[in-house]
Amino acid sequence: MNDLSNRPIGIFDSGLGGLTVLKAVHALLPNENIVYFGDSGRAPYGTKSRETVLKYTVQDMNFLLSQGVKMIVIACNTASACSLETVKELFDLPIVDVVGAGADEAVKVTKSGNIGVIGTGATVASGVYERAIKARMPEAEYHAKACALFVPLVEEGWWNHQVTGAVAKEYLQSLKDFDIDTLVLGCTHYPYLENVIGNVMGEKVSLINSASAVAKKVKECLSVNNLLNGDKARGKVSYFTSDSVEKFKSLGGLFLGEPMEMAEKVEIDRMCETLVKSEEQ
Ligand code: DGL
Repeated sequence: MNDLSNRPIGIFDSGLGGLTVLKAVHALLPNENIVYFGDSGRAPYGTKSRETVLKYTVQDMNFLLSQGVKMIVIACNTASACSLETVKELFDLPIVDVVGAGADEAVKVTKSGNIGVIGTGATVASGVYERAIKARMPEAEYHAKACALFVPLVEEGWWNHQVTGAVAKEYLQSLKDFDIDTLVLGCTHYPYLENVIGNVMGEKVSLINSASAVAKKVKECLSVNNLLNGDKARGKVSYFTSDSVEKFKSLGGLFLGEPMEMAEKVEIDRMCETLVKSEEQ
């Protein structure tokens, strides 16, 4: 244990999808304090350019640093896809992302080596999963599909709605035609559509939700860096959003499956200006 160990873990996403990762981290490491930031005011990230997502990612991480975090989990595939290499150079603290964990699981689970990935437009266009999967399994066959409408459907709470079923059928048919045996849910919003996606793909296709693999990576990373919190008491989870707190709390409660008691608003642009200025002084 060292003196940073009781600092919080920072987790962020473009909005609420990263709560799938937060839940898994909190379940595995219940005594860790966590600060979660959902950038709902600027979501979705998946339809934006790489430069814009990179800028947002750096700002989100600066905000988490201002909260004194000891490590950061990028609980957003789009942010990982557009900026992981850069932020690893810019920020001097441990960083865990979702893409590596998803690729690890996919190659572990596949029997045929025929792997599909679904994600936002930005994630699929970046080719990040293809590189990650082929680096682990060079002979793998890789097929991807961008599913732009899934994020708004999840945020609308239409997890089992018939419209969502029809959209899923349309998006996933090409992956079915490729006869994949494993499908990576390459967006942290998608686990909420697991039923609908599973119904379309059929039971022979394994769906990979990387949240629990990410949680294991977080534990490993804290342990290697001697940062596991030695306190036995249950950790505190604090929520921040860049949009309406009321909306974030009510949808967040739905996503968490329990009420989100408190959330605070962050003026993310102003906060970052302040940080840049304080660094210049
Ligand atoms: N949850 C984010 C991800 O994993 C994407 C949502 C968005 O497009 O903002 O990619």
